[in-house]
Amino acid sequence: MRASITLLVLLFSICGAQTQSTQTEVQTEGQSTGAAAAATAAAAAAEVEALERTKVGALERVTAAQEAELTAVRTRLATSEAEVMNLTKENAALETRLAATVTDVEDLKMDSAAHEQELAALKTRLAASKTGIDDLKKENAAQKAELTAVKTRLAATETEVDNLEKITEKSKVAFSAGLTRSGWVVSGDTDLNLVFSRIITNVGQAYKGTGFFTAPVRGVYYFRFTVVDLLASQEMQIRMYKNGQMLIRLYEYDTDGKRTYLSSGLTLLLEVGDEVNLRIPPGRRLYDHYCCNESTFSGFLLFPL
Ligand SMILES: *[C@@H]1O[C@H](CO)[C@@H](O)[C@H](O)[C@H]1NC(C)=O
Ligand SMILES: *[C@@H]1O[C@H](CO)[C@@H](O)[C@H](O)[C@H]1NC(C)=O
Repeated sequence: MRASITLLVLLFSICGAQTQSTQTEVQTEGQSTGAAAAATAAAAAAEVEALERTKVGALERVTAAQEAELTAVRTRLATSEAEVMNLTKENAALETRLAATVTDVEDLKMDSAAHEQELAALKTRLAASKTGIDDLKKENAAQKAELTAVKTRLAATETEVDNLEKITEKSKVAFSAGLTRSGWVVSGDTDLNLVFSRIITNVGQAYKGTGFFTAPVRGVYYFRFTVVDLLASQEMQIRMYKNGQMLIRLYEYDTDGKRTYLSSGLTLLLEVGDEVNLRIPPGRRLYDHYCCNESTFSGFLLFPL
């Protein structure tokens, strides 16, 4: 476009210069003769016409060039407009996408905030759970300790129960036995242990049948005895011993030769293994009839200790 305008200016200046010189020539020749002047004028007119044509041709070419250029510019303008349209559309699309993205980002932010809140809540719950677990662990440990203590106590109690059962079993103690059914029972130079051999009752087998009662458990026992004599004018004597130590001594002097009874009893605290028996001293005798258990030795445990 700028090139075309420059060309146009150049053409105009050329044409103007030529016209000026032609007018100068006409003025000079007009001063000579009229015919010559007319011929010269015609020639000049022809020349002017030729110049005018040249000018018009140049202008037409310029115009055509301008039109071509204008068309090109229009085309380019249309293309630019289309591009602008396309860009506008694209921009709108991008804006829409941007808006959507912003919305997404905001949503994500909200989601994130919600997630953070949830996470915080979960952390709190987790901490609470941990505390709960710790508490449970402590409780469990305490219960274990208690259980161990209870087990220990149970074992002790079971042992105690076992012992008590054994004691209870051993505590079933009661006996009665008649003497010998052999008539006279006489001691020699030493004490005579009375062997009550006719066993009537012997629960717990604490009475040995040898005349000795042996305590199976520690406890309080009761013993009693009865012995009989038929001998006239003689002294009868009976003694009770615990572990060889005399506890009772009874006398009787029979004058008529009829039955005389000596009887007594004692409550004794015995340790396990303590022995109780009856004796007559040296040079004494008593009578044991063949019937009826007239002389007896009895005992039983009142309660263990
Ligand atoms: C405008 O976009 C259309 C398709 O979207 C394409 O065919 C055309 O060539 C584009 N025009 C310009 C000038 O970019
Ligand atoms: C005396 O004891 C004996 C047990 O040794 C028993 O068999 C008897 O029946 C008892 N009574 C009499 C009256 O003998």
